[in-house]
Amino acid sequence: MNHRPMLVTCGLPYTNGCCHLGHLRTYVPADFYVRFLRRSGEDVVFICGSDNHGTPIVVSAENEHMHPRELSLRYHRHFEETFQRLSVNFDYFGMTDGETNHRRTKAIVQNLIDHGYVYKKIIQQSYCPKCERSLPDRYVEGVCPYCGVPARGDECDQGCGRHLEPGEIKSACCSVCGTPAVLREQEHYFFKLSDFKDFLLSYLPKLEGTLIARNYALGWVKEGLHDWCITRTLDWGVKFPGHEDLVVYVWVDAPIGYISFTEEWAVQHGKDWKTCWCGDIAPVTHFIGSDIIYHHTIFWPSMLRGAGYGVPSAIVASGMLKINDQKFSKSRGYVVWANEDYLDKGLSADYLRYYLLAYTSHTRELNFSWKIFQERVNNEVVGTLGNFIYRTLYFAQKFFGKIPEHPVDEEILSRIQQSVGGMEDAVRSYEFKSAVDTMMSLAAFGNTYIQNQAPWQIIKTDRTAAERVIRNCLQIVHALAILIEPVMPDSAQRIWLMLGNIDQVHEHLVREVSTLPAFQNLPLPVPPFTKMEDDQIIELEKVLEKRVEEADRKVKGKEEVSMDEFGRLDIRIGKVISAIQVKGSKKLLTLKIDVGGDERQVVSGIAEYYSPEEIIGKEVAVVLNLMPVKIFGVESQGMLLAAGEQASLLVPLHPVEPGTKVR
Ligand code: MF3
Ligand code: ZN
Repeated sequence: MNHRPMLVTCGLPYTNGCCHLGHLRTYVPADFYVRFLRRSGEDVVFICGSDNHGTPIVVSAENEHMHPRELSLRYHRHFEETFQRLSVNFDYFGMTDGETNHRRTKAIVQNLIDHGYVYKKIIQQSYCPKCERSLPDRYVEGVCPYCGVPARGDECDQGCGRHLEPGEIKSACCSVCGTPAVLREQEHYFFKLSDFKDFLLSYLPKLEGTLIARNYALGWVKEGLHDWCITRTLDWGVKFPGHEDLVVYVWVDAPIGYISFTEEWAVQHGKDWKTCWCGDIAPVTHFIGSDIIYHHTIFWPSMLRGAGYGVPSAIVASGMLKINDQKFSKSRGYVVWANEDYLDKGLSADYLRYYLLAYTSHTRELNFSWKIFQERVNNEVVGTLGNFIYRTLYFAQKFFGKIPEHPVDEEILSRIQQSVGGMEDAVRSYEFKSAVDTMMSLAAFGNTYIQNQAPWQIIKTDRTAAERVIRNCLQIVHALAILIEPVMPDSAQRIWLMLGNIDQVHEHLVREVSTLPAFQNLPLPVPPFTKMEDDQIIELEKVLEKRVEEADRKVKGKEEVSMDEFGRLDIRIGKVISAIQVKGSKKLLTLKIDVGGDERQVVSGIAEYYSPEEIIGKEVAVVLNLMPVKIFGVESQGMLLAAGEQASLLVPLHPVEPGTKVR
């Protein structure tokens, strides 16, 4: 086979909201990984794009009175810009609604059909009787049948994380109007995921990347695989072959985007996308959040396998995010927006990158707080790294004006090599924090070295000895500039220029850490990093606090009802004139109620607790201004108030006239 570049991808962001810290937990490590591999001489293609289909986008577009395409374009551009601002440099950033992806998705689905991996089945699908439409995925809310936690349509997002098939969710309600959903028969297409058990059992143990991805996946396969419904009754999406009224499930066409975007990139660069996606195991590494491990380790490889494509060689899953000890949640205000809260305030993209990579192993949960962010930046980036680099450059420039022509000590060179080796090992085993720590320990070593050697003292008596120390320090700075490029690319470039270079640091390889060829002149240096000040941090904390308070108020606003709102309910006392059993129902009575000069027909579910005889003549409380509904074909123009399992009716303590208002 031809030369195969490595393909690295990131989970595709949905185009229905802004970029936040949760996204960056995946994108920054992926970008670091790609940059480091390139500095090690690897040929890497870095691909991403936006996920435009599926109900998350349709629901958001509806709320904003926009076409899903318009909404998608808006957020697509937003993500593209944000990634640039963060130096997350994809070689290509596509859209799943693009023509290539429509074509590639149809081809793959057709392939699966041709290979016998797709079958038709009639299923019970949630349907909203009020909105009069079927309720795919996020159009329905309810309770997870596995763990009992509130869930939305296709996924138990707050509980066990399982994928839910259509019709599986319990206590389903329409997410638009809240009406309890009913089940309706519909014909859908299924992917025979269960056929791939043996394949997965042999593939998964060899899957590279982070342990948690592999282990979760193996656990799920052992639990048993359910076939996946891969069609949805929606307009927005990729049409299922031969059915204008069905689109494929978003989790079919979204990952296929990885292939389509590779194709689009390849066309632009005169390359062949097939080298990335053919063979048994494709040289593909997916970086994803841990909430979508199932889709990437089970569903996606099976689909690729079934359609005759290569399967990914590695899945790297990042841990979840907490903000100030609270589970990340946009609706509860525990969110940090990449632009609004950070970049727009002029804060350094490099600091955020450093923090995300160095604070905690990226497979663990990350508990974000501004205070700790400040501590890490000030102590490590400014204190250790910046301090060493600036002292070295300052004295070198002041005493010599250029890089002194003195050989570097063997001991220094081997200390540098030791860091490089450590970083390479760490990166290859996806331990990015440990890679960054290794790099920082070289800076700490430099700091101790310059402090102990005190060239500013030696120079008073022995210029050659001072030259030697400074030359050693400059070699470390040179190495650091190359090694921090994957972590903090902008800062690395600034430091590179302060060493008297005029080219780009990212054009250099890690193996060049030991060379510093030209004894070039040094420009006047400036401190490469500045501290995060207390008042900046206090301001950032306040923004977060305010957001949480506002979210709290909104939730309470929903729970509390004003007097005016209560007053809109027309509740009156009425006298039951007649009561008869509804035909075909054991539970329902049709009541005629005198509500003061007016007579109302009310259907009530009390037949199991009251006989018609015992209820006639009783005074009851009735809500009169509910919208009329038909129950068992009988119109009901009001609702009786009752309490408890046995429907104990609310009645006035002392007799009042029919029609008296309840207040
Ligand atoms: N948009 C999805 C999410 O945010 C991720 C899609 S990744 C892909 O959860 F593999 F489907 F592309
Ligand atoms: Zn669950």
